[in-house]
Amino acid sequence: MAHVYAVALEKGGVGKTSIAVNLAAGYAHVGMRTLLIDLDAQRHASRWLGIDTEAITLDHSFAGVALGRRTIPQCVIETVEGVDVIPAHKDMVALPELLGKEIGAGIYVLRDALAQATQTGAAYDIVILDLAPARGPVLATALASATRCIAPVQAVDLVLQSLRDMVETVSRAQAFNPTLRGLSVLRNNYAPRASLDRIYDEGLAKSYGPMLLQTIIPSRAQIRLASGAQQSVFAYRGPDDIAVRELFLTLVEELLDLDGVTR
Ligand SMILES: Nc1ncnc2c1ncn2[C@@H]1O[C@H](COP(=O)(O)OP(=O)(O)O)[C@@H](O)[C@H]1O
Ligand SMILES: [Mg+2]
Repeated sequence: MAHVYAVALEKGGVGKTSIAVNLAAGYAHVGMRTLLIDLDAQRHASRWLGIDTEAITLDHSFAGVALGRRTIPQCVIETVEGVDVIPAHKDMVALPELLGKEIGAGIYVLRDALAQATQTGAAYDIVILDLAPARGPVLATALASATRCIAPVQAVDLVLQSLRDMVETVSRAQAFNPTLRGLSVLRNNYAPRASLDRIYDEGLAKSYGPMLLQTIIPSRAQIRLASGAQQSVFAYRGPDDIAVRELFLTLVEELLDLDGVTR
């Protein structure tokens, strides 16, 4: 049974895609079979790993799987970083509406597709879902198949409100997905020495203590530069590359520990 991590928060610009892409590359780097699924019509994760999304039809994107028209192996694209990707398509902006209409698919469509892939020999150790900053049927589908939700947060008040909503959304999703272990809060884009971040951090620890991941991803140019170069931090050579790679490997290990994976 794969670990399925949904990287989600109903707020843009907090680093969901940065975490999803680099975490996926990190798992591939340590030799785990990793699938990254781009559920955001903006297609940032797909492009980040070098996929020409204009060359992909809607049915060969995540929409094909979500609407029950394609299997996972039919949509997978292998990337040079060792991560398999199911890309997004720009017309996926209409996916929430389509999912609402085509009830045949149901919210377990992704979970069932992943189970089917495993049975037919296309098993993954880790599946990472990169979501758009929105709630609705796409998030529900993701949380119905997830084993853990990872919410990246930054030291901004608006993010706290989104986090409160996310806690609620995840606990509701646990009612129809017993394999969803819970929500992990990841502090990203942090400047730990800034006094504002420190005050904010104390508040986070008070309200979300047990959910907080120990690993903190600070603000690093390397992450932005790697994105611009369409590479993960594991492939991109830059000024800070070794330190940033180490950070993501620490995060990889922390999540594996949390889920009791022994390697
Ligand atoms: N730890 C970080 N250090 C530096 N820049 C970051 C970091 N995390 C994210 N960013 C930058 O912030 C912007 C938004 O990140 P992104 O991952 O696209 O967020 P989201 O997917 O939540 O909208 C991007 O330009 C990205 O390069
Ligand atoms: Mg994103």
